[in-house]
Amino acid sequence: MALGIQHLLGLYDVSRSDIELILDTADSFYEVLQREIKLVPTLRGKTIVNLFYESSTRTRISFELAEKRLSGSPINFSSTGSSVTKGETLKDTIRNIAAMKIDMVVVRHNAAGVPLFLTKCTDAIIVNAGDGFHEHPTQALLDMLTIRQHFGKLEGLKVAIIGDILHSRVARSDAWGMKTMGMNVTLCGPQTLMPLHTESLGVRITDNMGEAMEGADVVMLLRLQLERQQSGLFPSIREYRENYGLDLDKLLTLPEHTVIMHPGPINRGIELASNVADCGRSIILDQVTNGVAVRMAVLYLLGGGEPGGHEDV
Ligand code: NCD
Repeated sequence: MALGIQHLLGLYDVSRSDIELILDTADSFYEVLQREIKLVPTLRGKTIVNLFYESSTRTRISFELAEKRLSGSPINFSSTGSSVTKGETLKDTIRNIAAMKIDMVVVRHNAAGVPLFLTKCTDAIIVNAGDGFHEHPTQALLDMLTIRQHFGKLEGLKVAIIGDILHSRVARSDAWGMKTMGMNVTLCGPQTLMPLHTESLGVRITDNMGEAMEGADVVMLLRLQLERQQSGLFPSIREYRENYGLDLDKLLTLPEHTVIMHPGPINRGIELASNVADCGRSIILDQVTNGVAVRMAVLYLLGGGEPGGHEDV
């Protein structure tokens, strides 16, 4: 069984069996990453361009590490310092890169829909590393891998995703992917930071943090995306922190088994108190570790690798 998708643009229409295949493959790459030599030859000879039009720390390093650990040849592009600053269009940039015979493009852009657009401009395989407010599928996959590793399952678990839902591509990818996997998802934030037509996400919505966290197995905080906001979406940082930030007092109201997640970067002291981010119930750094294994799985499977095949090479 191979993946039913040719590119990874989002999780909106990715099937449960495809998500399972990616997570199972990521589990075996996770094992590879525990070895002393963390290298497999499966993408040898393949060139991957990391096309980043927006800033990134985790996602970018994680993709590059994944590509190198699969023995691929990554090329890094960032819009600053490129001909984008001379006015070159996205289409021209990608056609010029494609003319140099690349196999895969990992793209991050502040406009929703750019990864889909690129599939029309080149024959290369496209992987979305975050497009505007739209989707961030590898983040949601690594979130699910981390939850599955911790609880041994996904089906039936309760997840509360709290914060700036409006600007969060992570919330959308998580909502779609987790729903597909039979998880029980609640999105929570102030009404001014909720997208319109939330019913299309098909998950529970509330503006009450206590209600969202009731009985949750996982509480995921999202960054308040100050750079994407016009002013006036919430009265003050202090009020936001009181109503939607997780501090030690609120942590103590949660069941003992509940774990804390955050996609990073964290606004310490706003959505997450520092002592909660670093406490024993936080699995935030496991998310980061798992990011490499998930991205290895995605690149491997999209690149034509057979499920389980890398174990024999
Ligand atoms: C997120 C992103 O860029 O969408 N970060 C990430 O990739 N880990 C979330 C954010 O910027 O807040």
